[in-house]
Amino acid sequence: MVLSASDKTNVKSVFSKAGSQVDDLLGEALERMFTTYPQTKTYFPHFDLHHGSAQIKAHGKKVGAALVEACNHIDDIAGALSKLSDLHAQKLRVDPVNFKLLGQCFLVVVAIHFPSVLTPEVHASLDKFLCAVSAVLTAKYR
Ligand code: HEM
Repeated sequence: MVLSASDKTNVKSVFSKAGSQVDDLLGEALERMFTTYPQTKTYFPHFDLHHGSAQIKAHGKKVGAALVEACNHIDDIAGALSKLSDLHAQKLRVDPVNFKLLGQCFLVVVAIHFPSVLTPEVHASLDKFLCAVSAVLTAKYR
């Protein structure tokens, strides 16, 4: 997944607009994913998955921080997320289809909270970025 110069600018503009709200956006995206695609709940049997769950919020913070890290190192996402890639591929073994589902939910949440930011071009760039992140997190399966 090759991000053009304008893709990178677009992605950075989303994260700079979202600022510290990224954590909440991810918490909301996770909650939306669990509701819309209940099969994703099977990876979190140890979590309280009810609306407003503190565990989902805390997890949103971690996932949000990882995306900010990827955005800050957009030319070396593989390097920036190397440890997470080991975790998801070797330990968690999350089926790669689920990354698309979380990405979709994140796009919807961005659209809800920042409708004017998500032009079709920015939508496309953000989708590419999320695909690039997913590709990294699922790269080490064997
Ligand atoms: C854990 C990021 C997608 C399932 C984590 C952690 C981060 C993270 C930062 C915490 C690691 C740590 O505590 O050291 C991401 C990112 C994703 C993504 C950036 C895609 C954009 C997914 C998907 C699933 C998933 C799609 C499954 C539907 C898990 C599980 C854990 C985890 C089960 C462990 C939770 C726990 O026990 O605390 N992920 N993740 N992840 N992730 Fe992901």
